[in-house]
Amino acid sequence: MNDSLAAAALAAREHAHAPYSKFRVGAALEDATGRVHTGCNIENASYGLTICAERVAVFKAMSEGARGFRRIAIAADTDSLTPPCGACRQILWEFCGDIEIVLVNPRGKSERLRLKDLFPRPFDASLV
Ligand code: THU
Repeated sequence: MNDSLAAAALAAREHAHAPYSKFRVGAALEDATGRVHTGCNIENASYGLTICAERVAVFKAMSEGARGFRRIAIAADTDSLTPPCGACRQILWEFCGDIEIVLVNPRGKSERLRLKDLFPRPFDASLV
């Protein structure tokens, strides 16, 4: 795997705070200028307050004025590569549209997808 975005997601995963699930996730989001915004999952003793790596990356990026997101890499240590959860698919659609998604694991396995294929009939601004 020769992809710096995937490498950034794997590195971000090292910062995960996942003492409850032990399931560590990293994300790296590339914006229109090529800048990379990273995130990791951050859990809480009140489990429902946990936030996924993807949403941390999106919200960090949005809060710094980044826009025009091109790709997101998502890293987890699973042999069957980990896709974004349903809530993250909704957030990614809102801010990134039909973005390219790169799933990776630490053993160099990777897969490229598009959000439209994971989230084929979105609820979005076109309906409200
Ligand atoms: N998690 C993510 O960070 N991203 C995903 O796409 C799937 C789930 C986190 C949330 C929680 O901290 C842990 O993985 C187990 O669900």
